[in-house]
Amino acid sequence: MTQDELKQAVGQAAVDILLPQLEDQSVIGVGTGSTANCFIDALARHKGRFDGAVASSQATAERLKQHGIPVYDLNSVANLDFYVDGADEANKHLELIKGGGAALTREKIVAAVARTFICIADESKLVATLGEFPLPVEVIPMARSYVAREIVKLGGDPAYREGVVTDNGNVILDVHNLQIHDPRGLEEQLNAIVGVVCNGLFAARPADILLLGTAKGVQRLE
Ligand code: 5RP
Repeated sequence: MTQDELKQAVGQAAVDILLPQLEDQSVIGVGTGSTANCFIDALARHKGRFDGAVASSQATAERLKQHGIPVYDLNSVANLDFYVDGADEANKHLELIKGGGAALTREKIVAAVARTFICIADESKLVATLGEFPLPVEVIPMARSYVAREIVKLGGDPAYREGVVTDNGNVILDVHNLQIHDPRGLEEQLNAIVGVVCNGLFAARPADILLLGTAKGVQRLE
């Protein structure tokens, strides 16, 4: 199977999990990226079965609207039963690195609200130790150099993601050369640096279910 087919398989598997639990008034949180897009395309086939979605990025909002799925502001939604999103890396504890698509802050907000976070990924994303994928950190633009110096003190090697402005008007530092043995601790340390808006570690709020696309089928971890 190609990587695209694995992504389509996990997107469909996520739809299969949430479909029996959807009601007319259900609103679904939807992530960002190529795997999340596969989920959107699979979900769109059932668009009469739920009310709408909350999007974690402008790109996702556009794709949902193209499918005719209503998109709601998170502030107008009291409950989200499900959030479905991809990841750049996942470990067996369902802690994640996210933000390869620069949508980490809104993704973390929607994940925080959702009762169940279903992460969908092809099997290449499962790692023993997080950190091979450079950890994205969203930063207020004027604090970029200061935050970079503070990250060096923590042992990381930050690189400015040139030409990228997040949906929130901020910039991204990608932190290389980390071996993250304490994801929750590092998530807290990075959040404590003044000027950091958010970092791509999803450890304080990990996924609840990880659906991994493998050549032998979709593997479910929880
Ligand atoms: C975007 C993300 C994505 O979920 C992550 O980058 C994975 O993307 P893809 O499904 O395209 O591999 O965190 O900010």
